[in-house]
Amino acid sequence: MFYLAKIIVFWFLVQNSLATKTFPESFMFGTGTAAFQIEGAWNEDGKGPSIWDTFFHKKNATENGDVACDSYHKWKEDVQNAKDLGLKFYRFSIGWSRIMPNGTLNSVNQKGIEYYSNLIKALKEEDIEPVVTLYHWDMPQYISDLGGALNVQFVDYFEDYVRLCYTLFGAYVKYWLTLNEPTIQCFVGYGYGVGASGFALPGDGLYQCSYVLLKAHARAYRIYDEEFRDQYQGKVGIVLETNWIEAETEDPLDLEAQERYLQFYLGWFANPVYKGNWPDVMIDRIANRSKLENLARSRLPAFTQDEIEYINGTHDFFAINTYYTSTVSYQEDEPIGTPSYSNDLSVDASTNSSYIDNQALRKLLNYINDRYNPGSIIITENGRATSDGLEDIERIEYLKIYLCSLLDTILEDNVNVIGYSLWSLMDNFEWGTYETRFGIIRVDFDSPNRTRTWKESARWYQNLIATRVLDNSTFIANN
Ligand code: NOJ
Repeated sequence: MFYLAKIIVFWFLVQNSLATKTFPESFMFGTGTAAFQIEGAWNEDGKGPSIWDTFFHKKNATENGDVACDSYHKWKEDVQNAKDLGLKFYRFSIGWSRIMPNGTLNSVNQKGIEYYSNLIKALKEEDIEPVVTLYHWDMPQYISDLGGALNVQFVDYFEDYVRLCYTLFGAYVKYWLTLNEPTIQCFVGYGYGVGASGFALPGDGLYQCSYVLLKAHARAYRIYDEEFRDQYQGKVGIVLETNWIEAETEDPLDLEAQERYLQFYLGWFANPVYKGNWPDVMIDRIANRSKLENLARSRLPAFTQDEIEYINGTHDFFAINTYYTSTVSYQEDEPIGTPSYSNDLSVDASTNSSYIDNQALRKLLNYINDRYNPGSIIITENGRATSDGLEDIERIEYLKIYLCSLLDTILEDNVNVIGYSLWSLMDNFEWGTYETRFGIIRVDFDSPNRTRTWKESARWYQNLIATRVLDNSTFIANN
């Protein structure tokens, strides 16, 4: 009898919670992609090489971005898919070297401009908001030859590029994303050398990169503010990224490690933009270790007061990419020796990407809201990779859990999250492999036609967008 009563209460709770799991009318659903990962046509119609073209060509890699999803030719089908899904917005990036082959104003490529104009106009015609990333890691090779993100003049080149984009497309684009995940670009390109441009400078290159990219972001924001905002009334922000970072235990040392990790990872870029200057824990630890390494100054470049003020406040929202949960615990500081970011941080961290924490997104969004008080938040990437196949049930399960967590954040914690962009509209080139498939639409990379086929998750997402109601049975079971 008691058991039966329990079942009835449980059923009531399930129904009740199902009934409340509805996304607000104004909430925007979208999907994302990036130029290098989908476009292909790497040297067609006047496009110049980007650092990622060079990176894979130099290695003679069998998998590269030369054709990718061939979206340069198949963009109409992609827009049609976006329309059929019912997307409110589509996040894509402009390939800098497609519209400025060597990255400078000396070379402007009309064909490249036409490509993005057509895409943007077609989206607008279907009532799909273009959300445009200006820079998703694909730096023009020539700009890299000039020093790339290790050279502060990068900021001027970036200014010329973004001004051209605002001028050409500003009438149609209301959401501009300056840089995608600069943390990762600095890590792989200038810290650990595992991606383009391949510099292994883990103790200083990656900090110099962050210093230059933050200035570039701020310049792009200020240019919009000063020259375009009155006319176009758009919004501009930077896309940051982090896993949710969980402390291994409640021990104060582990909690300190958790906070230190978040400050080193998210705060590295968020603090200068949302609060002013690097996080104190970074300034102090890197200065201290640099001194012990007998260096004359900190490996973390110092901003002047003017620079701090120029960068601070350059946001109209907080854009966050997030995928997994990492666990951290305290460790003794690494001994002074080879300077590196990970030694500066000195935290024991591990990530298990198959572990799904059903509160991760909620915790992260509340953390961002409390720490940075951004006014509004957009999730610019979230999703998971699966192996090839159309029955991607694991992806749907993941999405249910993350979206339930998101809804709780909106409805129960009153955090102003205004949009969600699922990564990705389609399988694409995951920076070195086609095996890792993030798409809700399958792409057949063996076929010259790069045939697109909807997976189960695409239908599921289409239904969610149409109804706004989350079938959260999995979420309840997991709770
Ligand atoms: C981060 C990047 O922005 C995107 O390019 C990448 O494909 C996804 N996350 C998945 O790793």
